[in-house]
Amino acid sequence: MRTRIENLKGLATLRENNQNCDFLAGNSMDNWTMIDDAFIEIDSGLINNYGSMSSCPKGSSNIQIIDGTGRFILPAFIDSHTHLVYANDRSEEFNMRMHGSTYTEIATLGGGILNSSKQIMSSNENQLLDSLLERIEKSKKTGTAALEIKSGYGLTADSERKMLRVIKRAKDQVSQKIWSTFLGAHALPLSYKGNHDAYIEEICNEMLPKFADEGLVDFVDIFCETNYFSPKHIDALCNAANKFNLPLKAHVNQFSSIGGLQAAIKNQAWSVDHLEFMTDQDHQDLYRAFESNLSYRKPIPVALPGCSLFLDIPYTPGRRIIDSHLPLAIASDCNPGSAPSSNLGLCWSLACHKMKLTPKEGLAAITTNAAYALGAEKQMGHIAKGLDANLILTKPVSNLSFIPYSFGENNIEYTFIQGR
Ligand code: NIG
Ligand code: FE
Repeated sequence: MRTRIENLKGLATLRENNQNCDFLAGNSMDNWTMIDDAFIEIDSGLINNYGSMSSCPKGSSNIQIIDGTGRFILPAFIDSHTHLVYANDRSEEFNMRMHGSTYTEIATLGGGILNSSKQIMSSNENQLLDSLLERIEKSKKTGTAALEIKSGYGLTADSERKMLRVIKRAKDQVSQKIWSTFLGAHALPLSYKGNHDAYIEEICNEMLPKFADEGLVDFVDIFCETNYFSPKHIDALCNAANKFNLPLKAHVNQFSSIGGLQAAIKNQAWSVDHLEFMTDQDHQDLYRAFESNLSYRKPIPVALPGCSLFLDIPYTPGRRIIDSHLPLAIASDCNPGSAPSSNLGLCWSLACHKMKLTPKEGLAAITTNAAYALGAEKQMGHIAKGLDANLILTKPVSNLSFIPYSFGENNIEYTFIQGR
């Protein structure tokens, strides 16, 4: 089946002028090519052809023609950081916060991650799968065609495995590309009573080898933070993960700067996520990681503006990161405790309104650079012939900037996944 969308107001290529780059950094995040008055053709789920209407093929037999007047085609969004497997929402904790309790106080009282962990323990796989599939479907309505999903509300071998199996089953059932991340080191289970080292040992020696053998893991992750896990735990986790060739993604510098960023860089993390709290030294060390000529994959910074909004904490200094010629990716962090929304269009708005990114930079962060955060930059996140037709057709809008400008609105008409 062939489809051609014609008379588009614009087609956001993202890498047209940057074919040799795996990500967009610094100025190039705002300087990618938008083709005005454009068409795109999809054949058997792949992007077959695209360009300006002046070069549009004329034939209309055996092809479905869609009139795209007033609309844009964008690469579909990619969510490189989510916690979409959970049992119940935590709106009661939200209510407590709105009555004056803090996120940390609630966590100390057994709420927070431990609350979600109790709920996972008492849920069965089928229930968790059903709610996950609903959330994946919901994220498609706001433009997401590929997503990473973490465990981390299990905190025991059985519960972590349950979460990872749910992610695996979702992978097999939906057409969106999904990556699975083992985040056993998300919080210390009560049974370990202050003994973080012993829990990390269980993760490294018992859980990870089993889960990796069962093919349940694409990445490992850890929450490196005061009262959670330390930089030396990152070393231990990576030591274990290296045996299975599993790359690291890391939650670092969310509330404090304790060396997590540096440990993640040293361990060749594929992405460093959160970064709301960055010292000058942190900026310098991140900059150096990109400056070095070493051939390993660069640790792309990932901002999570939905979490900043929801917890009322600082926004990741995205403007400063891009101004120092680095790339920036943005993800939803969708989870019941700190960012209960998977809407990447809203994250795009927050990137502009709160982090002072331009509309084009914001789009680069949730497409091309998000693909890099997952090692998928050759397959998705931009528009090129031969790639899967993972695309967004917008509603009629006055220009690209209208989309992040109109925060909270869904400007997406269709999300195409492999052309469907
Ligand atoms: O990425 N920072 C750690 N973990 C999650 C929040 C988890 C929760 O509160 O349930 C995050 O923000
Ligand atoms: Fe997270």
